[in-house]
Amino acid sequence: MPVLVTGLQPTAEIHLGNYLGAIRSWTVLQRRTESFFFLADLHALTTAPEPEKLRAHTLDCAAMLLACGIDPNFAHIFVQSQVHGHTDLAWFLSCWTSLGQLERMTQFKDKAARREDGFVGAGLLYYPVLMAADILLYGANLVPVGEDQRQHLELTRDLAIRFNGAHPDTFPVPEPFYPENCARVMSLQNPTAKMSKSDPNRAGVLFLSDDDGTIRKKIRSAVTDSGRELRSGPDKPGISNLLQILAALTEEPVAQLERRYGDSSYGEFKGAVAEAAVAAIGPIREKYFALKCQRDYLLDVLAEGRRATQARADVTLAAVRDRLGLL
Ligand code: TYM
Repeated sequence: MPVLVTGLQPTAEIHLGNYLGAIRSWTVLQRRTESFFFLADLHALTTAPEPEKLRAHTLDCAAMLLACGIDPNFAHIFVQSQVHGHTDLAWFLSCWTSLGQLERMTQFKDKAARREDGFVGAGLLYYPVLMAADILLYGANLVPVGEDQRQHLELTRDLAIRFNGAHPDTFPVPEPFYPENCARVMSLQNPTAKMSKSDPNRAGVLFLSDDDGTIRKKIRSAVTDSGRELRSGPDKPGISNLLQILAALTEEPVAQLERRYGDSSYGEFKGAVAEAAVAAIGPIREKYFALKCQRDYLLDVLAEGRRATQARADVTLAAVRDRLGLL
C-alpha cells in the first residue's frame, strides 16, 4: 500500500479551510493507503504558544481529527514530538539544504515580516526542513495538503532527490496531493487572504467548533464584492470564495451553482451557503464535543499511534545513519 503522511499544527482550533483543503481528503485516502496523521507540535513552537494552550490544543485537535472521520482502525494518529527521529532527520537533511532556498520560502518571508517585535527565530527558517523530515521519515509516497504547502513539498522532493543522488534509493520521492477546487479557502472578511488559524479577526474564520448561530452570522457578514452579479472571477474574490465553499460542501460544480443562483440576491445566496455549512459542520461539532471529554480514550489513541510509528521511524533513521557514516 502507498504510504501517506501529513500533519496539522495544533496552534488553535481547526477551521473550514483545514477541513476542505486537507482533512476531508484524508478521511477518504486513509482507506487506500497506510496513513500517518500527526499533530505537528514541534512546528507549533515557532509561534511561541503558551504551554498550557499548546497542550490543550494538541488533545483537542486529536479529538477534532477523529470527529472529522479519521479512523484509528485505518490510520496512525500521533503527536510529532513524541516520536523520536523527526528532529534527528531534520538535522541530517539541513546539511543538504541550501540556505538560499529556505530564505526564498514565501511563508518564511510573510511570517518573518509579520513578527511585531522584530525577533525572527531560526526555527522559522528551518521549518520546511523539519517538514521534509516528517515526510521522508516514513517513506511517504503521498502527501495530501492545501495549496499553501506547495513550496514546502517542492523542497521535500528536492531533498529526497539530492540525498538519493549521493545515497541511492534512500527515500521514495513523495507526490503532493491537492484537493480539486478547495485547496485554498479564503478568509470571509478578507477574501484575498487565506483562511488562517492565526487570523486575529475570528469573524473571517469558520471554526469547526462554531455553533449554528455563529456559522450563520459569520457567513451573513462575509465581505462580498460590488455589483450584484453572482459569478466567480478574479474581480469578485468574495463571491468566488463563497461559491467555492458551497461547491466543496455540496459537491456541485461552481458553474452549476452560478446558474442556479444567477437570479438570487447576495443575501439569498449567503443563506444557502450558511445552511450548507451548518449541515456539514453540525455533526462534526457534536462528535467533537463528545470526544473532547474522553481524555483517556484520546491519550490511548495517541499512545497506540506513537508505538506503531516509532518502529517505522527507527528503521529509516538507522538506514540514514548508516549511509551517512555515523558510528
Ligand atoms: P496547518 O496546520 O497550517 O494546516 C493543516 C492543513 O490544512 C491546510 N490548510 C488549508 N487548505 C485550504 N485552505 C486554507 N485556508 C487552509 N489553511 C490550511 C494546509 O495546507 C494543511 O494541509 N506545515 C503544516 C503542517 C505540517 C505538515 C508536515 C503537513 C508539518 N509537517 C508534513 C504535511 C506534511 C501546517 O502548518 O499546516
